[in-house]
Amino acid sequence: MDLQGEYIAIGAESIITKVELWGHHYALKSRPSKPYLLPEIDSMLRTSRTSRECKALTIARTLGVPTPAVHSIDLKDCTILMDFIVGQQLKEVASSEKGTNLRELCFQFGQYMAYLHREGMVHGDPTTSNLIVTPSGKIWMIDFGLSELNATVEMKGVDLHLIRRALETTHWNNQDEMLEATIEGYTNTLGDETKPILIRMEEIRERGRYH
Ligand SMILES: Nc1ncnc2c1ncn2[C@@H]1O[C@H](COP(=O)(O)OP(=O)(O)OP(=O)(O)O)[C@@H](O)[C@H]1O
Ligand SMILES: [Mg+2]
Repeated sequence: MDLQGEYIAIGAESIITKVELWGHHYALKSRPSKPYLLPEIDSMLRTSRTSRECKALTIARTLGVPTPAVHSIDLKDCTILMDFIVGQQLKEVASSEKGTNLRELCFQFGQYMAYLHREGMVHGDPTTSNLIVTPSGKIWMIDFGLSELNATVEMKGVDLHLIRRALETTHWNNQDEMLEATIEGYTNTLGDETKPILIRMEEIRERGRYH
């Protein structure tokens, strides 16, 4: 897609540009090729992650999780054009938000994880950089390039373990409060199905300790 715009994020995997079209703002996510990978592998990874992300953004929305609507996808250039969500990453918000507000945001995050898991979908990279908080306090979930369907208890346990790991490394000063509220939102929605997944999350943590 040949669109010009303002760079929003340049990561190891992707470049996000904010573009204006027909009076609206869109986010253009492109996955540039990596010169150090074999061209066949590079192309396979870029295409599959782009396609996976595009499908998952739409499926997640049908499950009740707010995600940006996809307007077009180009599998040759590995780009996705989606709605631009105005807000800040939860990662940034968490350092300034305290108490009730932060708990409410994390509770919402937990609920959305449960909406995905309930229908067998895992996010794959559930970090606080992949959640956008709007000025009205609504959470949007993004970055589904590593998501999977038909998830097992193990995969769901890994998803929750990744949340804990992300909170431990990024939010060390309020990680307990954030994890507690996330798990509360998760349990509140998933009910009886929660227990084996939480047990698996603990097992995964223990396994990691001895490796
Ligand atoms: N639709 C969007 N609206 C607003 N900001 C966005 C949008 N998509 C991405 N961003 C911003 O760009 C950042 C990086 O985007 P994203 O998380 O999708 O890419 P990434 O982490 O490089 O992904 P990947 O791991 O798939 O390569 C986000 O954390 C967010 O701040
Ligand atoms: Mg990301």
